[in-house]
Amino acid sequence: MQLGFIAPSAVKSGAWVVGATEGPTLLPAARKADKASGGAIHRALSVSRFTGKPAQVLEVIAPAGVQATRILLVGLGKSEDFDVNRAEGAAAAALAKLSATTEAEVSFEIDAPKGAKAKRANLAAHLAMGAKLKTYTFNHYRTKDLAEHESKLKKVTIFTDDPAAAKKAWSRCEAVAEGMFLARDLVNEPPNILFPEEFARRAKALAKLGLKVEVLGAAAMRKLGMGALLGVGQGSERESQLVVMQWQGARKKTAQPIAFVGKGVCFDSGGLSLKPGASMMGMKGDMGGGAAVMGAMRALAMRKARVNAVGVIGLVENMPDGKAQRPDDVVKSMSGQTIEVLNTDAEGRLVLADALWYAQTRFKPKFVIDLATLTGAILIALGGEHAGLFSNDDKLSERLAEAGKAVGEPVWRLPLGGGYDKLIKSKIADMKNIGGPSAGSITAAQFLQRFVVDKTPWAHLDIAGVAWQDSEQKPLIPSWGTGWGVRILDRLVEDHYEDR
Ligand code: BES
Ligand code: ZN
Ligand code: ZN
Repeated sequence: MQLGFIAPSAVKSGAWVVGATEGPTLLPAARKADKASGGAIHRALSVSRFTGKPAQVLEVIAPAGVQATRILLVGLGKSEDFDVNRAEGAAAAALAKLSATTEAEVSFEIDAPKGAKAKRANLAAHLAMGAKLKTYTFNHYRTKDLAEHESKLKKVTIFTDDPAAAKKAWSRCEAVAEGMFLARDLVNEPPNILFPEEFARRAKALAKLGLKVEVLGAAAMRKLGMGALLGVGQGSERESQLVVMQWQGARKKTAQPIAFVGKGVCFDSGGLSLKPGASMMGMKGDMGGGAAVMGAMRALAMRKARVNAVGVIGLVENMPDGKAQRPDDVVKSMSGQTIEVLNTDAEGRLVLADALWYAQTRFKPKFVIDLATLTGAILIALGGEHAGLFSNDDKLSERLAEAGKAVGEPVWRLPLGGGYDKLIKSKIADMKNIGGPSAGSITAAQFLQRFVVDKTPWAHLDIAGVAWQDSEQKPLIPSWGTGWGVRILDRLVEDHYEDR
């Protein structure tokens, strides 16, 4: 798909998208389109329920007097609430309408309404972002009816007063979108294709962006004493891997990095604590945290972020063969702490225990954030709206909450505390890998906190409810995998951790 920013001109072909705020009040471009079409928009409005609410679309097909094949009037909501997220939503709504058509071209002429909360160039870039995110498809495995599933759209044009500034704003959006697409692809890939070594190969392919990528196999991890991670993978035919990605974009090569750690369980059968069939479906997505980390690293590299960042991804397949770890096994983690594994399905925390320890001891980062599809309990608590946030650091938490809000990936902080920590005491080892029947997401986070080195600021994002989406309710997420995590991490870096 070709994407361009140009100064407003007459639309000669394809769909012409214009905007209206709540009322509806037509913005100048919409008035122009109405006039050019001899009042077609007004006539259509008089027989429609369109009020200008966000994401509403009024379609006028083949209007006389204009060269565009159709006019789409999209609702922008109240002008004072109009921001970059609304711009993305408006573009996505227009594209959703076009997906039922054979339209190959679309031009957006959406003026910033008075009092809107964003600069014009940014609005233009985010119209493009909304359109781009909406065009994502995952059709690698279809051999039939491809035409039906592929977008017909070839060209998206955004009209803006300042194309140069819009292009500049777009270049960082594009990097983030590419990172999200990578994360979505990884989550959507089936587990017979995307096993730990294949995941690692895809990470290595990012070296062309200037990322340094190392892969540790099982033998290297055994030397480091990563008994917790390796225990999870030992029932699988597929070798466990640890991916280490480094982006050095700070002015000072030696500047202290920030660190992201991802859970990369390429398939979670539950192990010997086998999941029932219905719960096992979708467990190809249990590497969503790792996918987000890899996507974020791609975005940072693509936009040449002025920061030093490392991404560590623990990759395993949790399977139940004769060599599999048993409920009752005791394993020793890289930190030296021992863990009684009472449920082999609580495997994510075992993988993260070693990946977190490795990331902190090797890189001594400013902070470490882990992302993991860690607990079903977080789905019960927060559904698909918020990711769960757990942290030992208020500042990092606030920054994450702000970044999440700004980019439409909101998080909700849940508590940690000694009372919960008691629930993971073991009768024979330093801790056990499950708590009681209640507060499942919190006891999982308490477990992870035991692998935070000294006072390193740490945040854990439980993304089990947001890494994939079964309903069609999120306009910017056309696929099962959402790519959740890439945007919030990128934004956090942009707002607080880049050299100025
Ligand atoms: N990968 C799952 C968590 C999960 C559940 C992610 C549903 C997405 C959707 C995790 O490894 C798991 O199985 N957790 C158990 C922990 C329990 C055994 C303590 C859970 O949440 O039931
Ligand atoms: Zn599990
Ligand atoms: Zn899991």
